[in-house]
Parts: sequence; C-alpha cells; structure tokens
Amino acid sequence: MGLDYPFARERKAQLPCARSERALLRPAGFLDLEALQRIEGVCFQRRRFRKEQLEWVLRNERALTLVEDDGRRLTGALMLLFEGRVCRVLSVAVIPEARRRELGTRLMLVAEDLAHDRGCSTIRLEVSTQNVGAIELYRTLEYVMDGLLPGYYSWGEDAFSMHKSLAAPPPPEVASARPTAEQNSMS
Ligand SMILES: CC(C)(COP(=O)(O)OP(=O)(O)OC[C@H]1O[C@@H](n2cnc3c(N)ncnc32)[C@H](O)[C@@H]1OP(=O)(O)O)[C@@H](O)C(=O)NCCC(=O)NCCS
Repeated sequence: MGLDYPFARERKAQLPCARSERALLRPAGFLDLEALQRIEGVCFQRRRFRKEQLEWVLRNERALTLVEDDGRRLTGALMLLFEGRVCRVLSVAVIPEARRRELGTRLMLVAEDLAHDRGCSTIRLEVSTQNVGAIELYRTLEYVMDGLLPGYYSWGEDAFSMHKSLAAPPPPEVASARPTAEQNSMS
C-alpha cells in the first residue's frame, strides 16, 4: 500500500520528479528488518539503530516507520515517534546512490503530514552538529534550531535540537457537531 498525503502532494508538485515509476512509499513491517539494518549500515557511521532497537520501533504502537521501496530494494527510511502533541523524527536516511534527488525532502514532508493528521503541533529532531547535509536539509524545510545539546551522543559529539511548528490540527468532531441556533430553537 502506498501513501499519498495531501500536504506532501501539494508540495511535491513543486518538486522535480526524480523517482522511478515503481518507487513506493509504504509502512515498514518486520519483513523489512534486514533491509532496514542495511540502510542503517550504509547511512550511519556511528549512531546506528541496532536490531533490537529497530524491532522496538517496529513493534511500538506510538511509532511509525516508512520506507521507500523501488521494487528492488529500500532506498530510504523514516522513523517517527508520536508523543502527544509532539512528533519526534527518530531517523531519516537515504542510501548514498539515491541522495540529492529530493527523497529526504519527500520523507520529511510526509512526516509533517502524518504528524499533523495525528494532532501534533510540533515536529522535533536532534542532529549532530557535524552533520552538515542533514542540517541543510532541515533548514531548507524551515526547521528552527532551538538548542545545543553538548555531548548528546554516546561518543561525545554535540547535537542541535530543531523543531518546526505545524499548522493547527483539524478541529475536534464535537466542534462541528455543535447544534445550530435553528436546531436549538426546535428543541
Ligand atoms: C540527510 C539525508 C537524509 C538527505 O537525503 P537526500 O535525499 O539527499 O535529501 P534531498 O535530496 O531531499 O536534499 C534536499 C536539500 O537538502 C540539502 N542537502 C541534502 N544533503 C546535503 C549535503 N550532503 N550537503 C549539503 N546540503 C545537503 C540541500 O539543500 C538539498 O537540496 P539540493 O540537492 O537542491 O541542493 C541523506 O544525506 C542521508 O541519509 N544521510 C545519512 C543519514 C543521516 O545523516 N540522516 C539524518 C540524521 S538522522
């Protein structure tokens, strides 16, 4: 099953289309575990999710993993954790051969749509101060740097925390179910 979200669709229209016809963005399952480990292996030198951590994310009802599948292999992955009104980006990764073709951007835009749909007002992430490419990607998407986290990673590297405020979530059902003046006068 592919995913197509309205915000991403609108914004995608502004992006050059560089994806293969067969590429599909879909939720990941346990059958993707090995492929996800491969992505972690090629995309991260140090901060890799171990197998048990990936299993935890795949099992967690508050988490969601999406993968881009080109029919032959997974080219990108996005892991999200929903914590009330905050959506945390646990990881976004694109295999080296597929980079600089807007896949990272697409994954992050879908993350925003999903977070918005789940009633989140903010999307947050941490990124190594050394990860120039990722910082640039988030800046392009209008994330705001809001803190420096000294020694955030186990090997001592610092991180920036970044966030983006999302458009107000849709009003709750009750608001639209409120009786009109006409209905009131009939009761
Ligand atoms: C960061 C990452 C996800 C970006 O994926 P991508 O598909 O290449 O990103 P996009 O093609 O959507 O890039 C959009 C913009 O972000 C910026 N950007 C992305 N990678 C960049 C790099 N290496 N250097 C400078 N700017 C970069 C550019 O402005 C780029 O636009 P441009 O290509 O028109 O110049 C990918 O490089 C990656 O997987 N890195 C390893 C894992 C990682 O560090 N993940 C993030 C931390 S959790």
